[in-house]
Amino acid sequence: MVRLNINGKTHDVDVEPNTPLLWAIREQVGLTGTKYGCGIAQCGACTVHIDGTPIRSCSVPASAVAGRKITTIEGLAAGGTLTKVQKAWVEHDVPQCGYCQSGMIMAAAALLKAKPKPTDADIDAAMTNICRCGTFQEVRKAIHAAAKA
Ligand code: FES
Ligand code: FES
Repeated sequence: MVRLNINGKTHDVDVEPNTPLLWAIREQVGLTGTKYGCGIAQCGACTVHIDGTPIRSCSVPASAVAGRKITTIEGLAAGGTLTKVQKAWVEHDVPQCGYCQSGMIMAAAALLKAKPKPTDADIDAAMTNICRCGTFQEVRKAIHAAAKA
């Protein structure tokens, strides 16, 4: 059993200590906005925040983040109000199939928290998520728009 704090709620999840956090979030807690892409920390589809820092939840054991503050895409819009990043994503019509997008948004939100006015180089360095639909230019535009909002 591992005790996780996800989006401000405590969950006692019945997983092995080395079960990846991603599976605890999706299968035990039922928050399916966080996606499985590669399972080897390469694609970023599974990105969540731990104490505000983006991590790839497919490659972090659930037990390693017990007691830490975990935020998933479902918890980003606290109180139901979309964040600047989410609004920019809607306004710029960023998603195509959408599969990678929750990870993209979580990475972008963390970038803007660390660097409120990121340059293109900052965006390229931070946004290493993979999108098979090729939304990278729209992602960049939306991040700049969120930075100005
Ligand atoms: S599923 Fe975690 S990085 Fe790809
Ligand atoms: S929007 Fe389809 S994989 Fe990124």
